Amino acid sequence: MPVTKLHYFERVGSTMDVIHQLASEGAAPGTAVIAGEQLEGRGSRGRPWHSPIGGLWLSVVFRPPAVEGIEVISLRVGLAVAEAIQARVPKPLQLKWPNDLMLENRKVGGVLCEARWQGETLGWVAVGVGLNVRNPIPNELGAVAVSLSEFTPGITVEETAEPVLAALRALDLGNGRLAPAELDRFARRNWLRGRTIREPVAGEVTGVGEDGALLVRTPAGSDVSLRSGTVELAAMSHSR
Ligand code: BTN
Repeated sequence: MPVTKLHYFERVGSTMDVIHQLASEGAAPGTAVIAGEQLEGRGSRGRPWHSPIGGLWLSVVFRPPAVEGIEVISLRVGLAVAEAIQARVPKPLQLKWPNDLMLENRKVGGVLCEARWQGETLGWVAVGVGLNVRNPIPNELGAVAVSLSEFTPGITVEETAEPVLAALRALDLGNGRLAPAELDRFARRNWLRGRTIREPVAGEVTGVGEDGALLVRTPAGSDVSLRSGTVELAAMSHSR
């Protein structure tokens, strides 16, 4: 049984950089880094990730034999995080493809997956999870972002860290395809399902595929499978 360590830092640039460094030194799968705050937290698509004290800022090393696509990992991680903390939140935690955790139509967290290769071989995958637990949300983001504490006033970072870390360490990333049971679990939390989007393609979201792709039915009735891209809702998209 490999030794899985948890490294805690009061302040770092990004837990992703620290976990990549540890992985390059041979850290065992499940090794984790948590920071009280990040000064250079990063989000998907190269965006900065605001990470003040009061949030859960966590990265974990995985060493799967191969990755078919990072989308499947991102969806699996989001699902694991949502299920791990759902009991502490009175409203449904939902997942917005490909990497957002949503609470009452606002973003409460996100997942960032970064693979590192050694030649042709997969070295490791660093999985980062950011969760707004009790950190204040800047005024300008109040319409689009939320912290768990708005719905669970006494919630602490510690009580989210433990179940989230346990759930991530229990994940098996060996299967590059989502199993039918995982697709069912995702469907129950799929924030986009039934919504009309205009980007990256216009149509109605019908679900996700076993390869982690977003499935969209266009107005002409054809089914499109999206492996990447930023989703933008159509102005008239209904909210459920
Ligand atoms: C997203 O854009 O939704 C993904 C956000 C991921 C943020 C987390 S916080 C812990 C880890 N360290 C980082 O710098 N980013 C990820």
